[in-house]
Amino acid sequence: MDKYYENLLESVEYIEKRIKDVPVLGIVLGSGLGMLADKIEDKIELDYKDIPNYPVSTIPGHAGRLIFGYLSGKYVACMSGRFHYYEGYEPNQIHIGVRTFKLLGAKGVIITNAAGGINTSFNEGAIMLIKDHIGFLAPSALRGPNIEEFGERFFDMTRVYDRQYLDTARKVAKKLGIDVKEGVYMFFKGPNFETPAEIRAARILGADAAGMSTVPEVVACSHCGLKVLGISVITNMAAGILDKQLSHAEVMETANRIRKEFVEYVEAIVKEL
Ligand code: HPA
Repeated sequence: MDKYYENLLESVEYIEKRIKDVPVLGIVLGSGLGMLADKIEDKIELDYKDIPNYPVSTIPGHAGRLIFGYLSGKYVACMSGRFHYYEGYEPNQIHIGVRTFKLLGAKGVIITNAAGGINTSFNEGAIMLIKDHIGFLAPSALRGPNIEEFGERFFDMTRVYDRQYLDTARKVAKKLGIDVKEGVYMFFKGPNFETPAEIRAARILGADAAGMSTVPEVVACSHCGLKVLGISVITNMAAGILDKQLSHAEVMETANRIRKEFVEYVEAIVKEL
């Protein structure tokens, strides 16, 4: 057996001994969106540093733990603090969370992120459902030996953002009166924000939002057959769109500002999925 897979089974065994149920859904929380975890009831929190073979996340706004418990009546597994490409992790570490969800028995994942708005009809604070992505700017996080236990070497990406999940998310938005946008998320390596020229190029390619996460995890989900709902919070307009510079502080500030709406939205979606 592949050593990495063996190590991951060990991580999962550690987790399974401590949780109360099989999580039906995994949730990955983006920058500044960790407060969704506060809504989880009957919580069990496992720090990454205590989970065997787990990497540790270090950036501000990323707590670095797996949280298990009930959200909207469903047992969920929540990743608070994710592993980014720009932090220098090995490819197989970046998406370890979603693979953990899969091995624990989850059927689908909600992946959230903070992103810069490229589509000029978006505003700061908008919520965007991800319909598709562009991820070819960085090497695949699945490069290297294929782990057959998860899936085949070559796999489809045409319907990776699950149509039923998207439909549910649209219906819930309508019911709550939230004006959600839809669009294409484009992966950038980071840690720098993009240049205005890169953002203009991205727009020509068909991108609506830019971010530094999500794509590696979504690819791993597709590989192992986890359904995906992707949600971006447009925390800022991307570089060059407005006449101002970008900062992580602004990203966190906007995320904080819309957190109530965001949490209500995700809670309502979880109830319906
Ligand atoms: N670019 C990339 N990632 C981001 C941005 C951005 O403008 N905002 C939040 N995450």
